[in-house]
Amino acid sequence: MQIYLDHGATTPTRHEVIDFMADVMRSQWGNPSSLHWWGERSTMVVERSRLQVASLLNADPEGVIFTSGGTESDNMVMMGIARQYSTPQHMIVSSVEHSAIRLPASFLAEHGWEITYLPVDRLGLVNPQDLQKALRPNTVLVSIIAAQNEVGTIQPIEKIGMICRNANVLFHTDAVQAIGKLAIDVQFLPIDLLSISAHKFYGTQGIGALYINPLIAKKMIPLMLGGGQERGYRSGTQAVAAIAGLGLAAELAEQELDSETKRLTHLRDRLYTLLADIPDLIPTGATGAARLANHLSFYHKYIDGRRLVREMNLAGIAISSGSACSSGAIEPSPILLQMGYSETEAKNSIRLTLGKANTEADIEWTSLVMHQILKVSH
Ligand SMILES: Cc1ncc(COP(=O)(O)O)c(C=O)c1O
Repeated sequence: MQIYLDHGATTPTRHEVIDFMADVMRSQWGNPSSLHWWGERSTMVVERSRLQVASLLNADPEGVIFTSGGTESDNMVMMGIARQYSTPQHMIVSSVEHSAIRLPASFLAEHGWEITYLPVDRLGLVNPQDLQKALRPNTVLVSIIAAQNEVGTIQPIEKIGMICRNANVLFHTDAVQAIGKLAIDVQFLPIDLLSISAHKFYGTQGIGALYINPLIAKKMIPLMLGGGQERGYRSGTQAVAAIAGLGLAAELAEQELDSETKRLTHLRDRLYTLLADIPDLIPTGATGAARLANHLSFYHKYIDGRRLVREMNLAGIAISSGSACSSGAIEPSPILLQMGYSETEAKNSIRLTLGKANTEADIEWTSLVMHQILKVSH
């Protein structure tokens, strides 16, 4: 029996998406910038996807820019806004951002920018009052992750966004982990910029989008200069088939959001209950509604997270330690350190992220295997 519980790292591409992408590659392969019939047919695919992504976010389709994924969208915001200014200014990010925000922030700091890292509590939550206090006259951007990839904590995005809007400061959120698990409505929520990535919600790797509130247009210098595609924000011939897949994945995610969130929350809570009696396995991150529906995270008091990942893998179950994007690294998870955990606790952290194909039987089996492994290892 093989069980995949690492949907936070990537999700399997849905078969509907694969089939649709194959059709597009066979029959709508023109360059969307071309003026002839072939080009028009590809433009139709790209624009339909834009509508599908916009609908998922309740956004103006004008604001949806296709990128190569979460990392590019995050970099585009941080570097694109910074390049708008001739002298360094001030930005605010949380201390639990993904490296796609964290590293651009440290790059900018090395180049004279002032960066405030908002602290988080033991659950990984930012305090909006700290944001209020951190704002300065020269703050040009606030970027706070919507849902943390390692510990599943969901930030109070509405409160954070309101503070930014009242202060007339741009607000970006990395919603890569949130999409498909949280309803995000950019007309209702005060969000100016938002990053998404298709491979976290059953599209393919290497495609994503950045939502840019059309009202703030022209406050960002593009990273890619060239043919002027994507309203000049992201030059380069669009990846038509991947974009088609992203659009379909977005439409299906929107349709299934309520039922899937409910189902995953039930499975998450069931697994949490089943694992609760394992000695020395301590949950991390927020609980209940402030936690992603598909996300469980722990640290073990004595066992290295990577060792547990390997032992679970031998038993046919995929989980991850720390962030999968950096799980080759031996350093303790910087996220757990920021949340106040010790180096050992941060090194011993694991994450289990559920997805569409997981069943009750998977949950029961995972619990049995983990009980067994941790009984033997201890
Ligand atoms: C919160 C978050 N942001 C950004 C990324 C990077 O996205 P991509 O893999 O599409 O570059 C990830 C990937 O794990 C993520 O979890």
